[in-house]
Amino acid sequence: MFNKLWAKVINTNFIRDYRQMWPYIRPYWGRALAAVLITIPVGALDAVIAWALKPYMDVMMIEKNTNTIWIPIVIVGFSAVQGILTFTALYLNTWVGRKIANDVKIDLFGKLLRFDANYFDTNTSGNIIMRFNNDVEAACSGLLNNLKQFCTRFFSSISLIAVLFYNSWQLALIAVTVLICALLPLTRVRKKIKDINQQTVYTNADVATQYNEAYGGNRVICSYNLYDYENSRFDATLKRVFKLGIKMVQRTGMLSPFMHFVVSLGIALVIWTGSYLIVSQQITAGNFVSFIAALILLYNPIKGIGNSFNNVQIALLSMERVFELMQAVPAVCNRPDAKELQKVSKGIEYKDVSFEYAENKPVLQHIDLQIKKGETIALVGNSGGGKSTFVNLLPRFYDVTDGKIMIDGEDIRNYTLESLRDKIAIVFQDNFLFSGTIRDNILLGNENATTEELQRAVEAAYVDDFIKDMPQGLDTDIGERGTLLSGGQRQRIAIARAFIKKAPIVILDEATSALDNKSEAKVQKAIENLMQDRTVIVIAHRLSTIRHADKIVVINNGKIAEYGTHEDLVQKPDGVYAALYKAQLK
Ligand SMILES: Nc1ncnc2c1ncn2[C@@H]1O[C@H](COP(=O)(O)OP(=O)(O)OP(=O)(O)O)[C@@H](O)[C@H]1O
Ligand SMILES: [Mg+2]
Repeated sequence: MFNKLWAKVINTNFIRDYRQMWPYIRPYWGRALAAVLITIPVGALDAVIAWALKPYMDVMMIEKNTNTIWIPIVIVGFSAVQGILTFTALYLNTWVGRKIANDVKIDLFGKLLRFDANYFDTNTSGNIIMRFNNDVEAACSGLLNNLKQFCTRFFSSISLIAVLFYNSWQLALIAVTVLICALLPLTRVRKKIKDINQQTVYTNADVATQYNEAYGGNRVICSYNLYDYENSRFDATLKRVFKLGIKMVQRTGMLSPFMHFVVSLGIALVIWTGSYLIVSQQITAGNFVSFIAALILLYNPIKGIGNSFNNVQIALLSMERVFELMQAVPAVCNRPDAKELQKVSKGIEYKDVSFEYAENKPVLQHIDLQIKKGETIALVGNSGGGKSTFVNLLPRFYDVTDGKIMIDGEDIRNYTLESLRDKIAIVFQDNFLFSGTIRDNILLGNENATTEELQRAVEAAYVDDFIKDMPQGLDTDIGERGTLLSGGQRQRIAIARAFIKKAPIVILDEATSALDNKSEAKVQKAIENLMQDRTVIVIAHRLSTIRHADKIVVINNGKIAEYGTHEDLVQKPDGVYAALYKAQLK
């Protein structure tokens, strides 16, 4: 019966989650245990005052004996000890809580970095902050703090109940029966708040996402006067948060007042019975006063225990979510027997490759293509046709839905992700730069690059062209996401970053689209340097930049429409490429 109740209160997941939590607690278990154990004396010392009142009343007041002068001193002494212990408990708790939270956060952050691209497509930034940061806070620091508070209140209650029994078992029985009635609703708290708590997390995530969009999308908001639109969206989200907050109070807020009321019933019952017991001389006046004092002192911890219990449940729900993340397996990960891709000796082959982001919405269909080592392949075609998707499959940002991609005759899924990605340098359509300096950003391509290599990359990508006017040169700070630079400058840094990586495979997805004609001509030369002796896949809308590619592949609506050299394709009477080329020549 007790076990069943306990399982209901704590929920069996708790045992499972606790087991997973243990490796994080282990390094600090001594202090964690001390933090919990200290709650015993902190709570129990509450009883000293109530207990001391009995001898004081009986000896001093009734017998008029001054032998009890030590009692006030004891009370003050114990209160001082209690104060010191309370501080120690808080200190230990904060220390252990923060340490554990940091360890969990670091592991989760590592996990976050390794999630597949699809995870980031389907989760908002706010979602990630809430689940990877706030939930961990709640699960570690929050859990410990609330547990401490709960334990203190629990032990305080236990010791005060002991004082009750010490003074009069009859009255104590009444009081305890009433208390059990008051505590019963606590067993249903977790079930009641679980879905609200989950929804609250996701709604708060929306709030965070909207702040993030207000930051990132600021220019668009200004230029389209989206103030009202954004405000009303934010207002709607806040209203949802408000509703959930109110719902939570509706489900749990009555708990404390209810307990409050039941306890007052208990006090009334005790006074009524107590008067009878005194009159019939079954207990002394001292007993009665001490009993009432204990009962009144009991009132606070019992009243608060409901709140602490709610908070512990909320923290446990956070812990459940944290471990759900810990156990999540990224859709793209290393096979157990994955091997290292040492070098690329023959080339790449797409074999009957199909891909869809969402079910039954094919983006690429039955693509067959061979790219020999050292070849340059150009992809052209309609916007949204699937060119970027085609190249994103090679570093396994996503895995193919059907067919396979091979490097040197081996399915790329049999190589480790690290070794595969190590062999590929990419310049994206929109390149993400990190806050920091230009130098930092280029060196991300290869942190062990020598000064000469850095210099070569800077020259080859024509970065020196614009940093020569900057007083701090390579050490110029570029702001968050590189906002302090022009689009073309950002693109050149990204090219330098790819350059310095010296990877045998190079992917250029519209790498020069943000450059003016003069710079593009320069960077084009740089890219030709970069392409030497490498296997290259280049995507470009401006056909003039790719006419020297070994093979040009036209991808339209997810299928290869035609392929061949520039000379072959322009001669096709009604070829797609020929039409594109003619249009651009004009
Ligand atoms: N992360 C994603 N999730 C779902 N659908 C996507 C995603 N990325 C692209 N798509 C869809 O896949 C299709 C192909 O997109 P892709 O970016 O490969 O086209 P593209 O040929 O590179 O176009 P562009 O020339 O405009 O860059 C588009 O219809 C696009 O809406
Ligand atoms: Mg694209």
